[in-house]
Amino acid sequence: MEDKKLIFSGIQPTGTFTLGNYIGAVRNWGPLQDEYNCIYCVVDMHAITVRQDPVKLRQNTLNSYALLMACGIDVEKSILFIQSHVKTHAELNWILCCNTQFGELSRMTQFKDKSQKHPDDINAGLFTYPSLMAADILAYNADLVPVGVDQKQHLELARNIAQRFNQRYGDFFTVPEPYIAEIGAKVMSLQEPTKKMSKSDENPNACILILDDKDTIIRKCKRAVTDSEAEVVYREGKDGINNLMTIYSSVTGKDFAAIEAEFAGKGYGDFKIAVGEAVADHLEPVRSEFARLIQDKAYLKECYTAGAEKALRYSQRVLNKVYRKVGFVDKG
Ligand code: TYM
Repeated sequence: MEDKKLIFSGIQPTGTFTLGNYIGAVRNWGPLQDEYNCIYCVVDMHAITVRQDPVKLRQNTLNSYALLMACGIDVEKSILFIQSHVKTHAELNWILCCNTQFGELSRMTQFKDKSQKHPDDINAGLFTYPSLMAADILAYNADLVPVGVDQKQHLELARNIAQRFNQRYGDFFTVPEPYIAEIGAKVMSLQEPTKKMSKSDENPNACILILDDKDTIIRKCKRAVTDSEAEVVYREGKDGINNLMTIYSSVTGKDFAAIEAEFAGKGYGDFKIAVGEAVADHLEPVRSEFARLIQDKAYLKECYTAGAEKALRYSQRVLNKVYRKVGFVDKG
């Protein structure tokens, strides 16, 4: 690989990403490919920390892979693979688990949230989820990790694990930095704009999916919860409008002042339709590219097989050194 900084990021295979996934993370991954060496992955092993239907998981993983390509990840420029295809992640995870404290994992807000949501299945994988995420990143000694705000705590933990390992065994891991977009790092629910937009929301109107058709996107925007004023301005307390302005800004490139000027004297109704149209138009090329790619299973297989080979070659070298450091006997 060229001598550039290394980026790593991953996404769970929900099949079709949310507008939050897209604006907060995935849309930034493509443009980073020219400046950095980039490694991206569909994290199917993380996905099974909550119950999955195996048939759907397989389908969703393939869809997610194709969707990342449709969102601009170029397999000639980046390494794009499926997590379970690269065994070093699970192997490094074990070493990192042995360097992660019970107390640290218990403090993770995502673990607490998901335990509450699935009280009948608080499994060990859910608990050690952040250690596997650290393994994803550290297996490549990544410098930067582009994520949305909700993953910041996990990234802090990955940094702590790397630092602890370095102290115990001598400097080895690069301590990764978060790379968080200024606008859109936390896209909020359209129905409860103090909560992050998430596919697991029970109300389907809360969340735009990037494969939603134009009418659906406009309908969801029209129903977005706002406030009782009638002024399109970005101001504290106007969570719903702030969120719609953030979304509009990220798909049109207009700043908040320009948006306020554009909608001065107009009602929320006009604004919501404009947001819906802008989002749908922005996503149209992604939708059509996805429809094309998903037809070509043989090509997708070629891409993810090659991606996994490259990722394994790279991470195996790192893992071999880690094994030496912790005192495992060389296989020879
Ligand atoms: P996941 O699959 O939940 O989300 C993928 C990316 O989308 C971002 N995101 C959001 N950004 C803004 N607003 C939102 N409403 C929103 N919802 C999601 C997330 O912050 C994330 O960047 N654990 C990770 C996947 C992972 C990973 C990794 C990430 C596994 N290993 C290594 C980075 C590096 C996750 O579940 O993301």
